[in-house]
Amino acid sequence: MKNIAIFASGDGSNAEAIAQHFKDSTIACVKIVLSNRQKAGVHERMKAIDIPSITFSKEDWKDCSAILSLLQDNNIDLIVLAGFLCIIEPSIIKNYKGRIINIHPSLLPKHGGPGMWGHHVHDAVISAGEKESGITIHYVTEEVDGGEIIFQDSCPVKPDDTATTLASRIHTLEHIHYPLVIEKILK
Ligand code: GAR
Repeated sequence: MKNIAIFASGDGSNAEAIAQHFKDSTIACVKIVLSNRQKAGVHERMKAIDIPSITFSKEDWKDCSAILSLLQDNNIDLIVLAGFLCIIEPSIIKNYKGRIINIHPSLLPKHGGPGMWGHHVHDAVISAGEKESGITIHYVTEEVDGGEIIFQDSCPVKPDDTATTLASRIHTLEHIHYPLVIEKILK
């Protein structure tokens, strides 16, 4: 049985889709959720399905030793970023090399990099007049959104799309594919 840790900063809909997918799995389980935001919606979602979620401080994130101990104590095999808005510290990358993945709400390398998250990505896609967008699941390296791509899927950008309507179409794709890609990696 493999153990997953999810890092999330926001609403947590992906964290919930992943946790539900592995609820009765014999392959893996979501052991813990970590967040940099006390008020992130992910905490409520995890509470409702009995998965422990914790908030860490800026100091904990900079130092990382307490976070690394927590990951090691929980025998974490894979770190899954799901709407996590901090840049991953080098010591975490070093300790979990090839075992950290992220989901990005565009077809990388388009519309990625520092500052590109959530609605900023969808605004950029719409402003650029793209006819399609999509999701990218990739390994995390020290280059923001630059690690090896594992999976992509696309969806149309409609002429009357706003960042909100496009985000909703992208979320649907994410909830379908992210749990399945994680399962494939862990198998
Ligand atoms: C997701 O669309 C995810 O791809 C995006 O944040 C959203 C989080 O939604 N991540 C990024 O933009 C990272 N650069 P959620 O909190 O409902 O899972």
